[in-house]
Amino acid sequence: MPEHVLIAVAWPYANAEIHVGNLTGAYLPADIVARYHRMRGRKVLMVSGSDAHGTPITVRADAEKTTAYQVYQRYHEGFLDLFQQVGLHYDLFTSTHTENHFKVAQTIFLALKENGYLYTAREYQWYAPSQGRFLPDRYVEGKCYICGYTNARSDQCDKCGNLLEAAQLIDPRSKIDGSTPELRETEHYYLDLGKLENQVVDFLRQRESYWRPNVLRQSLGQIQAEGLRGRPITRDLDWGIPVPIESWEGKCLYVWFEAVIGYLSATIEWGRLNNQPDIWRNWWHDPEARTYYFIGKDNIPFHAVIWPAQLIGAGAAFDRLFGEARQESFTLPYDVPANEFMNLEGEKISGSRNWAVYVKDFLSRYDPDPLRYYLTVNMPEAKDTDWNWEDFLKRNNDELVATWGNLAHRVLSFAYKHWGGVVPHPGELLAEDQALLTMVERGFETVGQELEAVHLRSALGECMRLATEVNRYLDQAAPWKTIKTDKMLAARAIYTAIRSIDSLKVLFAPFLPFSSEKLHTCLSYARPLFGEQKVIAVQDGLGEHRALTYDPQGAIGEWKPSQLEPGRPLQPPQPLFRKLDAGIVEEERSRLGKLPV
Ligand code: MF3
Ligand code: ZN
Repeated sequence: MPEHVLIAVAWPYANAEIHVGNLTGAYLPADIVARYHRMRGRKVLMVSGSDAHGTPITVRADAEKTTAYQVYQRYHEGFLDLFQQVGLHYDLFTSTHTENHFKVAQTIFLALKENGYLYTAREYQWYAPSQGRFLPDRYVEGKCYICGYTNARSDQCDKCGNLLEAAQLIDPRSKIDGSTPELRETEHYYLDLGKLENQVVDFLRQRESYWRPNVLRQSLGQIQAEGLRGRPITRDLDWGIPVPIESWEGKCLYVWFEAVIGYLSATIEWGRLNNQPDIWRNWWHDPEARTYYFIGKDNIPFHAVIWPAQLIGAGAAFDRLFGEARQESFTLPYDVPANEFMNLEGEKISGSRNWAVYVKDFLSRYDPDPLRYYLTVNMPEAKDTDWNWEDFLKRNNDELVATWGNLAHRVLSFAYKHWGGVVPHPGELLAEDQALLTMVERGFETVGQELEAVHLRSALGECMRLATEVNRYLDQAAPWKTIKTDKMLAARAIYTAIRSIDSLKVLFAPFLPFSSEKLHTCLSYARPLFGEQKVIAVQDGLGEHRALTYDPQGAIGEWKPSQLEPGRPLQPPQPLFRKLDAGIVEEERSRLGKLPV
């Protein structure tokens, strides 16, 4: 079993609000898996941060007539806030705009160069005569030369998912003023992927048996069909990480090249913050360490092909250039469980059309656990799924409230009322009581196995199935009837049900941490299931930098069945979830697609 587990989560661009599709695509599954592994006692590190550089940020800044730095700061602050509200327990949510990240990214670049995996070439890139400058990546849109999609960006097509060669884009137009750019020569550094192809193929083959089919198709399949060719990893842009080579002033590392390095730099930053400067090696140099990358499908080539190539190519030279005494090669990704997309009411989510449910808006009207529930039962693990408000209402009322919330609430209220606020003594348990406890106990294996394999929908489905079984047991035992004739009989059923609920609380906890914590308090545990989040401010060479951290101190959540003893006091029970009014469906639908006037 793995001791060290790295949960590497896609870095959101600091240029847009986070919507439900982003959350279910990458951040939520990461948090669920991280919470589970922590409860299993593993050394988990969940890292990510704001993706602060590149044209996504500068295009936005230009549109708002402000600076890229301002745009990055504003969205970054919003993320720190939002991730606390929705309970994403990042050990460190930092950003790519830190001195540490600059240094680590530049060192990877230099290590690749030293090992002979970089070359320079002069190539044609789009240039705007009207502006007197080059237009990299998102500054140019046009027709995809692979699938024909008309709104492809010059570096990647959102329709077919392919990475594009900028110069081949058909009918290019400038994003700034719609003018037609022209091709001009410029010099860039290239990552020599061709030289790394065999090693990348070996890496992928070793993982072929358990990776998701779509991830394999977009990595191994693509390479087998087309081979790997060098890709430019620098840009004519001034917002980003300078190319660490003399006379290359004015050019930056390509945002994708450096952002993925954030997984490594954030681990290093976390170690330093915790006064353990060498601890990052436990996740990055131990071949037994498991590293999971939680991303959406548009990120597959960067994580399943290019990032492994960067790690293989940089190798032990990184350590030496970074001033480390020991020199070792990197641990490669264990799994890249990329999700597909979530649509909204049958249409693609689109920020520009305001066809989106923003997490911040959702949380201003509803609680986080119903969101986490709906996004998990509907997670696009194997195919695109759809957020549908009517379905949300049904899932909340008929499943979350009816099956799980009401179960916990009616049992605890009943116990509280009839046994003076304590868990009743059951006397001797009978076969049917034992059978229920055993069934729930087995859930720790079955749900655990699904979580290990990152099958979150089926893991949560199994939890719900067990809740249904507890309901069935109670319906049969009917303690609200037997209490009138034989209070011991009722006590046995209620005790058995409370023990089961106490176990279910743990099984549900990775998915529904807020309600599990509430239930846990209600059962009078003194220490919480989970630790605490905190925003910290650090000074570094680039200014003050704020980050979200997680402190596991005091948490007692453990992946094991309840040992709850009779006589334990209960706190006055509160409902775990709210039933929602049918009127929300129309209300929410009417908000969609409205553009601010
Ligand atoms: N910012 C990218 C996106 O939102 C994801 C970057 S993941 C990283 O699609 F690892 F490259 F940072
Ligand atoms: Zn395309």
